[in-house]
Amino acid sequence: MQKNSKIYVAGHKGMVGSAIVRELKRQGYTNIIGKTHSELDLTRQADVEDFFEKGKPEYVFLAAAMVGGIGANIKQPAEFLMKNLQMQCNVLDSAFRSNVKKLMFLGSSCIYPCKAEQPIKESSLLTGPLEPTNEGYAIAKIAGLRQCEFYMREYGAQFISVMPCNLYGYNDNFSVTRSHIIPAMIRKFHSAKVNGFDTVEVWGTGNVLRELLFVDDMAQACVFVMDNYSGEEFLNIGYGEDFTVAQIAEMIKNVVGYKGNIVFAPDKPEGMYRKIVDSAKINSLGWKPSTKIEKGFELTYKWFLENIPDKDDVYR
Ligand SMILES: NC(=O)c1ccc[n+]([C@@H]2O[C@H](COP(=O)([O-])OP(=O)(O)OC[C@H]3O[C@@H](n4cnc5c(N)ncnc54)[C@H](OP(=O)(O)O)[C@@H]3O)[C@@H](O)[C@H]2O)c1
Repeated sequence: MQKNSKIYVAGHKGMVGSAIVRELKRQGYTNIIGKTHSELDLTRQADVEDFFEKGKPEYVFLAAAMVGGIGANIKQPAEFLMKNLQMQCNVLDSAFRSNVKKLMFLGSSCIYPCKAEQPIKESSLLTGPLEPTNEGYAIAKIAGLRQCEFYMREYGAQFISVMPCNLYGYNDNFSVTRSHIIPAMIRKFHSAKVNGFDTVEVWGTGNVLRELLFVDDMAQACVFVMDNYSGEEFLNIGYGEDFTVAQIAEMIKNVVGYKGNIVFAPDKPEGMYRKIVDSAKINSLGWKPSTKIEKGFELTYKWFLENIPDKDDVYR
């Protein structure tokens, strides 16, 4: 990418998209474009085609998607499947037809088979049954990864993909119904602290393991990969170490400064037992994360305090 290349970040108001924009700006890119969901609904094919024909972006980061936590995924599998498929098909095909120079698609480590060998190598995709709690989302994302590979193979399009582990950080979704593990925990511990609750309930047994990457590190990786990689195979992007949910809860509790007790709810869903990705490939290209997990939690909690208006609401 040249510093004045026209770069479209789809989903630029989301957690990952906004981090990519920050990183591009930090590196001196000057011609970054974005459209909010209400300005351009990416599920509408004609509108997306029109946007690409007229706007002619040269590079695209596809960071728009319907994303949600385990509860939302269980409740709305049809929507997760349909909306993500629609967005991907529209953006990828319009990008191809308008001769975009290079596009990056984002997968997610939760779409690997639930019994994949750990750390999960890129080659594990589609080698076994998926985690049932997010199958709709996973099938859409797998289709997107394959679509990029096939467009490259059949048409020579420079469509590459990355497969990040769980992410957290600035602009994360702190909504009560749609949040992932870190924002949900920050909200719960903060609510318990300010409302004086004795306990905080954490879903599951606390024993499952999660790998978590600070979103600014992820954005750095995305720009790095866009500049340094053109392979057909997608690349894992991970932190390189995982922690039990119990350890994560303890860290968040400390960052928030909550003094009560953590109670696990083993009857509530907790997803795959472990999903740490093997990041050897991207590491060998020269990228490594730079934000330690505790620091990342501190920065995220500070952002939460400064930016979430209903942060003190009761949330249990
Ligand atoms: N968060 C994670 O832990 C994680 C992990 C691995 C991979 N990823 C991947 O990273 C990407 C971005 O995730 P994120 O966490 O940044 O999600 P996010 O914060 O929810 O951002 C997604 C963005 O996409 C927009 N969007 C959704 N539907 C749209 C539509 N129909 N038309 C136009 N824009 C639409 C959203 O706008 P509205 O909010 O207005 O709908 C939002 O700005 C996704 O592909 C996801 O799979 C995320």
